[in-house]
Amino acid sequence: MKKILKITALILAAALAAASLNACAGNGESATKTSDGAAETKQKLIMATNAYFPPYEFYDDSGNIIGIDAEIAELIADKLDMELVIEDMEFDSILSAITSGKADMGMAGMTVTEERLKSVDFSVSYATGKQVIIVKSDSQITSFDGLTDKTIGVQLMTTGDTYILEDIESGNLGNAKLSQYASGFEAIGDLVNGRIDAVVIDNEPAKVFVSKNEGIKILPTEYVVEDYAIAFAKGSSLTSKVNAALEELIADGSVKNVVDKYITA
Ligand code: ARG
Repeated sequence: MKKILKITALILAAALAAASLNACAGNGESATKTSDGAAETKQKLIMATNAYFPPYEFYDDSGNIIGIDAEIAELIADKLDMELVIEDMEFDSILSAITSGKADMGMAGMTVTEERLKSVDFSVSYATGKQVIIVKSDSQITSFDGLTDKTIGVQLMTTGDTYILEDIESGNLGNAKLSQYASGFEAIGDLVNGRIDAVVIDNEPAKVFVSKNEGIKILPTEYVVEDYAIAFAKGSSLTSKVNAALEELIADGSVKNVVDKYITA
């Protein structure tokens, strides 16, 4: 295992900083109500995601985005009396959608990293992820070291991408090559076709991909263990509210119920 991110303290510090900012700035964002209280337009809570990442976010047969993140976000919106709007985009566009104000928050099985904390704030963590290695069932690769000199597929701008790139650049993987894809699905397609030798991706999506494709397997080694959290623009007035709602949903078991619905032990 490469490294374990222990940055919960940083996340909390970021949340606290945001909370105190809100206290000073106040905010004019409230639901508009007519004087008799009849018509109510709920304020929108715009969530940026990349919906090709089951079981966190994916399309159901009727074209709706469902999954762990979508359901937790819906519970948060309910608590805040807001209307959830999910915007699907490339994973590598999510952070800029947040920092430019196009989206209120990013929720995409997104790992808290020190690099990302330079541009966004994160909520408390609501799930743990692990980067795992997927190979063909008959592959000679049995561990991380087996990736040496191989072609490794990742989803562009994900932590899998970052970590493999770091390992290649620091010479840990010989002449290994990196193949970057817009989605995990596409990387898996090329693994199945034999165009690449391995895919590095988060464990739960990995399980879904392996269950839907014959002839591939997950190696029993964990490459990196990570925390997933919701990302916000720095200083956003929503950070402390969403964070408080999320903490309540974690404390009362709602988050666990959603996770258990999509992930069977
Ligand atoms: N946990 C990884 C990261 O934050 C991958 C997330 C990919 N999420 C997605 N919805 N495609 O970089």
